[in-house]
Amino acid sequence: MIFHIVSGACGFVGRHTVKQLLKRTTDYIIMIDDLSVGTHPSTWLPEFSSKKLKDVEIIGKEERLFYWQADFRKFLRKIQENSNWLMDEYGLNVEIGDAFHFAAIVGGRAKIEGDPMAVALDLSIDAEFFNWIAKAKPHRVLYPSSSAAYPISMQTENENAALKESDINIDGYTFGMPDLTYGWTKMTGEFLAKIAARHYGIPIVCIRPFSGYGEDQDLSYPVPAIARRAAKKEDPFEVWGSGKQGRDFVHIDDIMDCMFLAMDKISDGTAINIGSGKLTSFLDLIKLFSRFAEYTPIIKPLLDKPVGVHSRYCDMNFVKERLGWLPKISLEDGMKRVYDAALENLKREK
Ligand SMILES: NC(=O)c1ccc[n+]([C@@H]2O[C@H](COP(=O)([O-])OP(=O)(O)OC[C@H]3O[C@@H](n4cnc5c(N)ncnc54)[C@H](O)[C@@H]3O)[C@@H](O)[C@H]2O)c1
Repeated sequence: MIFHIVSGACGFVGRHTVKQLLKRTTDYIIMIDDLSVGTHPSTWLPEFSSKKLKDVEIIGKEERLFYWQADFRKFLRKIQENSNWLMDEYGLNVEIGDAFHFAAIVGGRAKIEGDPMAVALDLSIDAEFFNWIAKAKPHRVLYPSSSAAYPISMQTENENAALKESDINIDGYTFGMPDLTYGWTKMTGEFLAKIAARHYGIPIVCIRPFSGYGEDQDLSYPVPAIARRAAKKEDPFEVWGSGKQGRDFVHIDDIMDCMFLAMDKISDGTAINIGSGKLTSFLDLIKLFSRFAEYTPIIKPLLDKPVGVHSRYCDMNFVKERLGWLPKISLEDGMKRVYDAALENLKREK
């Protein structure tokens, strides 16, 4: 029986990946999440039902989802201590299919700048993951890197070209200072992905999503938080920093679309951008949401809040050429979906 593995399965990207795997395959799925950030599958899987098999929850009518609420590292240690652990303990005859590794300490800007040493724990989670894939040899591996791996010197107010994959060339020794421990971890992950492909023959692809967003994203992220405040007609409207800093926003459905295509077409550890290729400032974002909400708030900059780099956006030409892919969801359509979801949530809370 083929089991795909999704770590961090209850987080933002993990949840969408699980739903896609249910749709795109008929295989089984092992989900691991310690719920440090993510929420239990009962909160995001439609028609949720489950039964217990020891400490595992078998989820859904088709019983294709096997959920462990655990630290991913503990799970990895168990399956390495005894390669028959899943059979001995649960009677599961598992052939590992694809491995999607989303377990990570991410958080928004406040976490990345406010607690950089907590984010450094990602090095430990990733190191154990890469060690495991080298032995277990999944069919294919997805490693989520990040736009934070790019040199911050290329993302300033004065110098901010669209970031190209070739701006990080580990083989050619071209790279710069990434964005704090978060960016360093991702650079290390990309380096290990190349080693996994070359030394161990593991088919692996890295993705560098820019600012992913979606209707169900945690409120610690700017897009859903701004949408909610616009839906409440906040006035004055608070923005972190001057609001002139910009990002490249990409809808989670586009990330999924590109990610699965990349897994079909890339296997040598290459990293690709996933973004819209457009820079949008937070002031523009607030303008868009306040247009949806049909009001014109006064903007109140919060200059003591962390804002990160000034301008971060990508060049999508490599992906267009290599995969023939470009995002399909416009900023306006994607953000409208988030706004409508925020309105619905507010209504439900009343
Ligand atoms: N969302 C984006 O736009 C974006 C952009 C670039 C990169 N990424 C990368 O994609 C991955 C997933 O991001 P996300 O936005 O879904 O974050 P998220 O915080 O929503 O999800 C991470 C999940 O991992 C779980 N987790 C954390 N540590 C764990 C551990 N030790 N064991 C088991 N579970 C653990 C959390 O509970 C959470 O559910 C991360 O590696 C992130 O760096 C995301």
